[in-house]
Amino acid sequence: MSESGTTPGAAGGAEDAGAAAPAAAEPSGTATENKADRPAAAESAGEAGAARPAAAEAAAHPPQTKAEAEVLQEHREEVLEHAGEVAAQVGDPRDYLLLAHELKAGYIPEVNILNGCTLTLTEGEVVGIIGPNGAGKSTLIKTIFGLLPVRSGSITLRGESIVRRSAHQLVSSGVGYVPQTQNVFPSLTVEENLEMGAFLRPKVFQRRLEAVAELFPLLGQRRKQKAGALSGGERQMVAMGRALMMEPSVLLLDEPTAGLSPMFQDEVFQRVRQINETGVSVIMVEQNARRCLQICDRGYVLDQGRNAYTGTGRQLLDDPNVIELYLGTLAKAD
Ligand SMILES: Nc1ncnc2c1ncn2[C@@H]1O[C@H](COP(=O)(O)OP(=O)(O)O)[C@@H](O)[C@H]1O
Ligand SMILES: [Mg+2]
Repeated sequence: MSESGTTPGAAGGAEDAGAAAPAAAEPSGTATENKADRPAAAESAGEAGAARPAAAEAAAHPPQTKAEAEVLQEHREEVLEHAGEVAAQVGDPRDYLLLAHELKAGYIPEVNILNGCTLTLTEGEVVGIIGPNGAGKSTLIKTIFGLLPVRSGSITLRGESIVRRSAHQLVSSGVGYVPQTQNVFPSLTVEENLEMGAFLRPKVFQRRLEAVAELFPLLGQRRKQKAGALSGGERQMVAMGRALMMEPSVLLLDEPTAGLSPMFQDEVFQRVRQINETGVSVIMVEQNARRCLQICDRGYVLDQGRNAYTGTGRQLLDDPNVIELYLGTLAKAD
């Protein structure tokens, strides 16, 4: 096992390289981010508010080398430059648990997959991301989790910039991530998989194991079984359980129901709500768009690396454009 342990299959990212990217339908509506909701907050995020996140980040992760110090300085300037824009559009970053603003990122130099994505997560929310295959949903999650460098834009966690943090630093900061594929160690037992999830804080293992087994009783029963011998749905529970071992405040889920039978898909959606009820805020990418919007507080439709539509789950489910372009004919049935 060569990887950091917290994110099997995550560090490579290359598994998605061949993913087809059919030309996505051009969204006909206006791009929206909840600007109108938060006019008062915008005033409080001036220069002072902007300097604070970068300063806080510097204090938490002081640069080790001259090169790192230069990068940090450069980033500090970027954050300052960007702050006015953030404030005008979404308000004070400190009002959000997580705020990704106007992100640009990609895999190949000069080819952006994310072309200015904005996403907000408020404490206690479940936020869904839907959109066509190749829209950049996984890329957005990977960028938030520090697996892809941010080319422009900002990401803040409780108002602090996390743009330069590595995945394992993010895990320590309370961000959990469950990748789309290869998200368990198949040759390890369920318990060992969960132990990997807590390797940054081994002392919490027993306490967290009990909490996770309470959420997923099946994992408690199967703890001595190899993860590779479990069904797809059970493996998904192991992957989510592993991410929950560090008691994250934000959980990033990439297509947790992919490849599962309808019964297991439903169980996963119910589990996500249950996890949320324990105080974890969730961002989930889903191909099962309708079901996802039914359980989400808010949703984002991503298309060609940009926000196409934003609203509450219900608003998106009822939006004729969203139905037409992204939910397919099935959505019209109810
Ligand atoms: N590791 C990678 N290297 C190069 N291109 C990639 C890689 N992963 C994804 N892509 C490309 O980025 C685009 C968005 O992919 P992705 O974020 O996986 O889409 P989604 O999750 O919305 O289906 C696609 O065109 C895909 O081919
Ligand atoms: Mg994906």
